[in-house]
Amino acid sequence: MKSLCIKGGKPLCGTVKISGAKNAALPILASVILSRGTSVIHNVPRLSDVNIIIKILHALGVDIYRREDEALVCTVKNESCCTPPCELVQKMRASICVMGPLLAKRQKAKIAFPGGCVIGERPIDLHLKGMQYLGAHVETKDSHVELTSEFLCGAKMFLGSEFGSTVLGTANVMMAASLAEGTTVIENAAREPEVEELAKFLNQMGAKISGLGTNVLTIQGVAELHGTEYRIISDRIEAGTFIIAAAMTRGRIELQNVSPLHLACVITTLKRIGVTIVEYFDRIVVEGNNSYSPTQVCTKPYPGFPTDLQAQLASMLAIVLGKSCITEKIYPQRFAYVNELVKMGASIEQKGASVYIQGGKTLKGATVFASDLRASAALVLAGLVAIGETTIKHIHHLERGYENLQAKLSLLGADIMYK
Ligand code: EPU
Repeated sequence: MKSLCIKGGKPLCGTVKISGAKNAALPILASVILSRGTSVIHNVPRLSDVNIIIKILHALGVDIYRREDEALVCTVKNESCCTPPCELVQKMRASICVMGPLLAKRQKAKIAFPGGCVIGERPIDLHLKGMQYLGAHVETKDSHVELTSEFLCGAKMFLGSEFGSTVLGTANVMMAASLAEGTTVIENAAREPEVEELAKFLNQMGAKISGLGTNVLTIQGVAELHGTEYRIISDRIEAGTFIIAAAMTRGRIELQNVSPLHLACVITTLKRIGVTIVEYFDRIVVEGNNSYSPTQVCTKPYPGFPTDLQAQLASMLAIVLGKSCITEKIYPQRFAYVNELVKMGASIEQKGASVYIQGGKTLKGATVFASDLRASAALVLAGLVAIGETTIKHIHHLERGYENLQAKLSLLGADIMYK
């Protein structure tokens, strides 16, 4: 198994091009199941999660290939299969987003439960509730769930749990409702840019969705969706990770192909800590320095501070002198990185859904284990500023969500290599 080896202490300088958004690409690719004809999708990152959804779509009769210009060309060729392969579904929780399209287009979806996850409980009850509102019959078995419906009917629903809205739940219902008869209203819909992006893609395929970017989505069902050509937004979490990398290493990075608007809360938080950030239309320039202040942050659904940057921010606050606190409101157990940062010399204590950070410690290189995608990123950031050599094991998690991270960091001057 590959490891990443980082020799810390180099300030990152230069420009980096941010890749397409993983969490927009996955549901958009799944939504192709709903359509007839060919769709051409640009800016889809080369990631292992994307490879998994492509394999699932192949198994479900969708022909997909990467053109020379990197665009993915997708055409539904065979609509007979309603059961995505269990071994692939269990590799990635986002595979649940084929459920809505299969149910709406093929009247049936039999899908394995994606199983537990290191970032905490990730139930799919809201997805199922949404499908039931649309008229689906849902049968839950030990290892899988089976949904059937002769035809789906628009409905008004509230989609939410104690943790707020659901991103993929909203996506699943929106996709199914696009081909339902009549009008669906989703209240408390997720407002994440990736959900808005899916709605834009569906509308380009002929769907009638309004309320984009708000928490009330209205979907007027249509009889058919057609193929389209689309360019996916850039990955705000990858961008946020590079902003933190520049800040932590006291370097200067220009991020290209970004949407500063999608990072408003992250940028405000980092400016409050003391990082210099200048925003342009589709570029961000970040300059680190030596005088940062501790802070208190609470993760929230968009437009709040994203849970997907919580671990990376903790890594930064570990080196910022003073007491900081981060409270995780979306996944209260998403702290698997804490022990690994502590091994590197950080002083972080987890109590319930919060971590208390006594910052300003000098991090030292160590052998640490990545437990999930964003935890891996937090360890890479720590390695970039640690004294000596850090070896990160189980680095395959990183490849789920960061395209060419090692190469991009090397170009910015980091001493980072696969071993
Ligand atoms: N929830 C329920 N029931 C449900 C669905 C969700 O109780 O049926 C709860 C979850 O347990 C969680 C909260 O609601 O506490 C929010 O979960 P959500 O459904 O929004 O998460 P998701 O759609 O499964 C997406 C991203 C995650 C990101 C979350 C939150 C994709 C592929 N995944 O997951 O991204 O953390 O939204 O923003 O879009 C990542 O990229 O590293 C990642 C984990």
